[in-house]
Amino acid sequence: MTDTVRIFDTTLRDGEQSPGVALSTQEKLAIAEQLARLGVDYLEAGFPQASPGDFEAVSRIAENIKGPTITALARCNRQDIEQAARALEKADKARIHVFIATSPIHMQAKLRMTPEQVLERIDQMVRVARMYVDDVEFSCEDATRSQVEFLVQAGRLAVDAGATTLNFPDTVGYTTPREYFQLITHLRKAIADPRITLSVHCHDDLGLAVANSLSGIEAGCRQVEVAINGIGERAGNASLEEVVMTLTARQDQYHVQHHIKTQEIYRASQLVSQLTGMPVQPNKAIVGKNAFRHESGIHQDGMLKDRSTYEILTPEAVGWGMTKLVLGKHSGRHALRQRLEELGLHATPSQIDQIQQRVKTLGELKSDINDQDLEAIWQEEVGQV
Ligand code: KIV
Ligand code: ZN
Repeated sequence: MTDTVRIFDTTLRDGEQSPGVALSTQEKLAIAEQLARLGVDYLEAGFPQASPGDFEAVSRIAENIKGPTITALARCNRQDIEQAARALEKADKARIHVFIATSPIHMQAKLRMTPEQVLERIDQMVRVARMYVDDVEFSCEDATRSQVEFLVQAGRLAVDAGATTLNFPDTVGYTTPREYFQLITHLRKAIADPRITLSVHCHDDLGLAVANSLSGIEAGCRQVEVAINGIGERAGNASLEEVVMTLTARQDQYHVQHHIKTQEIYRASQLVSQLTGMPVQPNKAIVGKNAFRHESGIHQDGMLKDRSTYEILTPEAVGWGMTKLVLGKHSGRHALRQRLEELGLHATPSQIDQIQQRVKTLGELKSDINDQDLEAIWQEEVGQV
């Protein structure tokens, strides 16, 4: 039987920490609805202790959104945990996500705590969280710059105190796929407990968040923390759509299933982009404007003969609509003839040559030649439409 990787979406928590982004409760609810439609297993709705607005949004999502387990973030202190528990009161399924930093730099410079104090805090606060919910995730912030044996100690302690998921974030996007694979493999063996789910949470500071997340999955993690469009602190989090579509397209490599309805991906991406005001770059994998557009003549010819020559995924699979052959200065005769036929314009081979020359000239001036342009060229070259 194939394992299932649980998709933990943090668009509304870590994603909303993107500089310049501030979503209203209504906007968060709209995104949460779409995330539920998408089929995420865990929906991290926010950090209730951070502000009254965050508290309200988490409470409203907990009350209204059905399907995913609603998750609230809390630092390793009683106040945060109690506030998270209050915000989650009306959820059908609730998880408290408790975290504390475990790297020397974070413990010394930020927390000003000794490693012993951090361990004591983990033990106490995971127990407090378990008084409110059965589902507690514990995260070792900055795990990839922590000492491995300290992570083992922290992880074991959290499990004994009742944590059901252990997360080892690459908080500053520092690790590499091989290093992360080795780290997770070691932790998995050292903390071996079949009741515990191991999780990855990767940031994109070196552009490796997706690759590192996939490495964590290869090493045995069965939860992956991601955000729509890869938004999040600094360079962002691993992108949900890239991780999910890699697992889908390369089943042969990862051998895991997921619960995402991939046809809802494009809609989720558009909604998050509109509401956060963060545009999606045109060449972004899976959801960028150009992700399923083909311009060069060679590629268009291949596509018209067999889509799988240049498409490893179909746009329909992610809810994108249809593949587009873009007419521009690189386009060839095959795509041009097809488009003309679709417009009801039947050209002879020499007319195609003339029109193609005009398309190339116009293509120097504009990037996407539309149907009106084509009809105007036809009118001038052939004489009637
Ligand atoms: O990046 C990180 O370490 C986090 C934790 C709070 C899980 O976002
Ligand atoms: Zn993070």
